[in-house]
Amino acid sequence: MAVLPVRVWPDPVLSRKAEPVDVIDDAVRTLLNDMAETMYKADGIGLAAPQVGVSRRLVVMDVPGPEGGAGTGLIFAINPRVVAREGACTMTEGCLSFPGLEIDVKRAERVRVEYQDLDGQPQAVDADGVLAICFQHEIDHLDGIVFTERLGPVRRRLALRDYDKLRRAEGDR
Ligand code: NI
Repeated sequence: MAVLPVRVWPDPVLSRKAEPVDVIDDAVRTLLNDMAETMYKADGIGLAAPQVGVSRRLVVMDVPGPEGGAGTGLIFAINPRVVAREGACTMTEGCLSFPGLEIDVKRAERVRVEYQDLDGQPQAVDADGVLAICFQHEIDHLDGIVFTERLGPVRRRLALRDYDKLRRAEGDR
């Protein structure tokens, strides 16, 4: 297992549509394990392969439960897709590819997601709460969409300006 460098915006790999995974081999399993280690090291709850520079449809997630309750545990999602969505809600989101930036993003409140697990078995999850938001955020990464692109034009411009400031402050340190 290895911690991988996380690509940060505006790295072009974050804007690329990722390729489906046809064969789940040792390379894919190793990458997923490395992604999990990278996510935990960074204190994240989700990570998509493009964020470590690999343009494949792979996601890892580990979403805590409400108020310290049981969480999802580690999820490896291969070729995940949202097959149904319902309702709308706004939550504050962060992204490991935008260090320090937190923005309120409007997304579907409930989603049904289908994916393959490490053994290639099809899985279906009906998600709500943070899990639903996390699935939508990570699957967006696979389509080359970052969370600022889910804002309207004015709030997007403000968010990117805040992010530039954060990066410059980081560079000054
Ligand atoms: Ni993200």
